[in-house]
Amino acid sequence: MSIAQRVNKINPSFTLQMATKAADMKSRGVAVINFSVGEPDFNTPKHIRDAAKEALDQGYTKYTAGPGMIELRQAICEKLERENKISYDPSSILVSNGEKQSLYNACQAIFNPDDSVVVFSPYWVSFPEFVKMAEANPVLVDTLPESNFEPNFDDLESKINSTIKGVIINSPSNPTGGVWSNEAIVRLLKIAKDNQWIVISDECYERLVYDGEFTSAEKLNQVHNIGASILTCMSLSKTYAMTGWRIGYAAGPENIIKAMSKIQGQATSCANSIGQKASIEALLGDQSCVEEMKLKFLRRRDLIIELLNDLSGVTCSIPDGAFYVFPSFKAFLNKRVNGKILKDTFDISQYILEAVNVVTVPGDGFGAPGYIRFSYATSSETIKKGIRRVKTALDKII
Ligand SMILES: Cc1ncc(COP(=O)(O)O)c(C=O)c1O
Repeated sequence: MSIAQRVNKINPSFTLQMATKAADMKSRGVAVINFSVGEPDFNTPKHIRDAAKEALDQGYTKYTAGPGMIELRQAICEKLERENKISYDPSSILVSNGEKQSLYNACQAIFNPDDSVVVFSPYWVSFPEFVKMAEANPVLVDTLPESNFEPNFDDLESKINSTIKGVIINSPSNPTGGVWSNEAIVRLLKIAKDNQWIVISDECYERLVYDGEFTSAEKLNQVHNIGASILTCMSLSKTYAMTGWRIGYAAGPENIIKAMSKIQGQATSCANSIGQKASIEALLGDQSCVEEMKLKFLRRRDLIIELLNDLSGVTCSIPDGAFYVFPSFKAFLNKRVNGKILKDTFDISQYILEAVNVVTVPGDGFGAPGYIRFSYATSSETIKKGIRRVKTALDKII
C-alpha cells in the first residue's frame, strides 16, 4: 500500500528525533548529557497533580465539550484578563491537546492551498510544517541575530505579495530564546493590518521572560489601536511543567475559533478530561510555583551563557526568555576533525555527540546555519559537566 503524497511533503519533527536519539543512547547505558530537551525538567507542581487525582475520583473521565469544559474556558478567560489584560468570552476560546494542536487547527482552518504564510527564521520546526500540511507555502523571512532575532523588516517588506494571508510569530522564541521588543511587534502588527494578514501569535513561553515584562501581541494591538486580526495561542506545558498533559489553547476571533473547533471535533473530539480539570487548578490556583521555576531557569541561563562564552570560538548573546540559548559555532565551520570537514552544524552536533555523548540541536534544522541550540532545562551540575565535555570535543577541531 502506498502512502499519501502529503506525508512526503512534510519533515518529521526534528527536535523529537534528537530527543529520541538521546533516549536511545541512555537506554543502551551510555552516560549521555542531553541539551536537546524542549520541556521543563521539574515535575508538575503538587496542587495540580492533586487536582487531577481528585478529578479521577470524582468521575471526570468522560468526553467534555469539544472546545473544552466551560469551567476551563472560563478559567482561561480569567487568566487572560488577570495576566495579559485582554478580555475574551469563553466562546472565543478553544482548548486543544497541547498548543501544538491549536496551531495545527489554526492553519487548517485559515489557509487555502497556495496561500502564503510568513514564518520568521530561525523558526520552531513545526511552523513551516503546519503551513505545508494546510497545502499553503511558508515564506521565510530573516531576523536580526544582533537584535534578539527580531524581524528584518527590509527582508519582510521585500517579500510582501498578494498571496500572503498570514504570519506566525513566536516571542519568546524557540529556538533562540529571543524576546522581541514591543516596538518590533507593533511594527509587525501594523504591516499585518495594512495587508489584511491574520497574525498567529504563539506565546507558549509568555511566563519565561527574565529581563523585562511580557506583553501579549493582542494587548499591544489594543493599546496602539492597530486593529490587526490576532489568534493568540498559549500552553500549560512550559509554564506549569505540564508537557505530557497535552493542554493548550487558542483565543481569537469567534469565527476562526468555531472553524478550528469543527476540525478538532472530527479529529480528536476534545482534549483529555483529567488534564482539563488539572488545568483549571493550574490557572486559578497558587501561582508561586511559576516564579520558583522561572528563578531556577534564570540561574541556569546565566550559568550556561558564562560557560559557553568561555569556550574559544563560541559566542553566545543573552536571550531574554524561554529556556534555550542559541550560540554561534560559525568559527568551527569548514574546520577539520578526525580527517573530516565540518561543513554545517549537523556535522558539528553529530561530532559532539559521537565524541563526548552530548546531545545538542543543530541550528540548520531551524533555518539558522552556524548556530546550535542548547536547552538549559536541566540541572546546573549537568550544565557544567556537559559544557566541559563540549570543550573537550571542540579542542580537537583544527
Ligand atoms: C514554540 C512552541 N510552540 C508550541 C509548542 C507546543 O506546546 P504544547 O506542548 O502545548 O503542544 C512548543 C513546544 O515545544 C514550542 O516550543
